[in-house]
Amino acid sequence: MAASSSPPPASNTAIDAPESLVTARAIRRLVVAIDGPAGAGKSTIAKKLADSLGYVLVDTGAMYRCVALAARQDGVAWTDEHEVSKVAARVVAEKQISLVRDEDGGVKVYLRGVDVSEAIRARDVALGASSVSAYPEVRAHLLDLQRMAGADGGVVLEGRDIGTVVFPDADAKFFLTASDEIRARRRFEELREKGADASFEATLAEVRERDARDTNRPIAPLRRADDAFLVDSSDKSLDVVIAEMMAYVATRA
Ligand code: DC
Repeated sequence: MAASSSPPPASNTAIDAPESLVTARAIRRLVVAIDGPAGAGKSTIAKKLADSLGYVLVDTGAMYRCVALAARQDGVAWTDEHEVSKVAARVVAEKQISLVRDEDGGVKVYLRGVDVSEAIRARDVALGASSVSAYPEVRAHLLDLQRMAGADGGVVLEGRDIGTVVFPDADAKFFLTASDEIRARRRFEELREKGADASFEATLAEVRERDARDTNRPIAPLRRADDAFLVDSSDKSLDVVIAEMMAYVATRA
């Protein structure tokens, strides 16, 4: 008898409560937007967040990288706005880009039927993506693709302009950042692990170059939406960042 009068375990409390977070999350499939500069940890964090919520992950940067790679495959210079725009139109109309979830929970990127998940991460393709993403027509074509991918909700989209342009009414918006030195350090260590010949100074210069390009372009520049929740990951572990973001998503559900 004494046992039945003791309070129920904490886990029961959540299950019994009709408006529990678990229930609310299961009912409403939100659109979650994550924007921020290169190297802020967006990819890792977006993947973890999508896994925790049971949502689909849409990496919009991968789409710009695919356009840059497709242009190169077609012999089109990244500086040729007109021809690159035609490549983007073709790639979208012919559904040549697909993001496919693999059995490990990761996302594989296919371009024209070929797995380019590794190829699009090359440094030169990153710079190419930054160049082609400044072209209005390229952005317009990929915008359609991105909106279709998020139309049913239950999705985490990561990029530069998700909360400002692609889904200005997203249910939860994050602007994820870190100092440029920390972002360059992370990138530098990643390159070294892959055996690439890189110096920290060159990596920092590249990070700053991409930031400047992404922030200063006239169309859909990288900026924090007024209603985006700011997360600075400079001095925080991944687990702390995810916990902060999950708590915020819960308030939006
Ligand atoms: O996130 P990423 O590094 O894979 O993005 C590659 C490039 O694409 C980056 O330089 C900026 C651009 N980009 C963009 O302009 N808008 C987005 N929504 C996503 C990426």
